[in-house]
Amino acid sequence: MSSLSTEQNELLHDFFADDASQFLDRMAQFNELMMKYNSAIREVQTKLQILNDELSLRGRANPIDSIRTRVKKPLSIAEKLRRRGKEVSVEAIFENLNDVAGIRVICPFIDDIYAVADMLARQDDITVLAVKDYIKNPKPNGYRSYHMIVEVPVFFSNYKQPMRVEVQIRTVAMDFWASLEHQMRYKNNSEASRSICDDLKKCADTIARTDEEMQRLRHQIDQHTRSQEDLAAAVQTSESSAGKR
Ligand code: GTP
Ligand code: MG
Repeated sequence: MSSLSTEQNELLHDFFADDASQFLDRMAQFNELMMKYNSAIREVQTKLQILNDELSLRGRANPIDSIRTRVKKPLSIAEKLRRRGKEVSVEAIFENLNDVAGIRVICPFIDDIYAVADMLARQDDITVLAVKDYIKNPKPNGYRSYHMIVEVPVFFSNYKQPMRVEVQIRTVAMDFWASLEHQMRYKNNSEASRSICDDLKKCADTIARTDEEMQRLRHQIDQHTRSQEDLAAAVQTSESSAGKR
């Protein structure tokens, strides 16, 4: 806590209050809400894992390479509420923020992203509240990813509650760029910084072209495999009909 700035200290102070019993009450409410977000993450993560397991059983390559999850940290929550001019309270978190529960799904190919998004959206207990397709419409800095805000009902002891989860779906290559860009992110308007941004954008575009090329190669391999299978089936059919004669 000692490494927090005065402003960050004030923010968390607003959140958790100063008198001890109020602090404990708010802490309990906060922990309960975070438990609900964690549960929502588990619900959506299980759905994704089931889809991945089922598709790999059908002899297709896994559409999901890996899944990472996180619950937003208290300080980031408080800062985001403050930025948006909202009250810094537990109720305000639930009302205003869509990304407290976050799931990042990493797929091998671009097609897998749309397949996973579509399969998730079609499940009848999932409500898609918003979609941002930064693959078809990349951000000006070159960021690419497919974002969904979904709502999933979570069942507790005597009630159910719809909870919102942010799902970010991207390829291994898009994730590689986003992770490094995030680490290197610094905002200043100097000439040097503008040239770094230009170079980062060029890297994003190179990576995007590689993703498209990999996708094209996969289609080519799929087509080749299918035509070989068709050929093998045709040979088998002609051999068995020759055997009957
Ligand atoms: P936030 O208020 O930041 O959550 O933005 P938003 O509500 O407009 O949502 P958006 O879908 O644009 O971005 C949400 C999340 O996507 C961010 O919290 C990041 O995890 C990721 N993201 C968006 N833009 C970038 C970017 O330029 N670079 C990186 N590395 N990640 C990004
Ligand atoms: Mg966010």
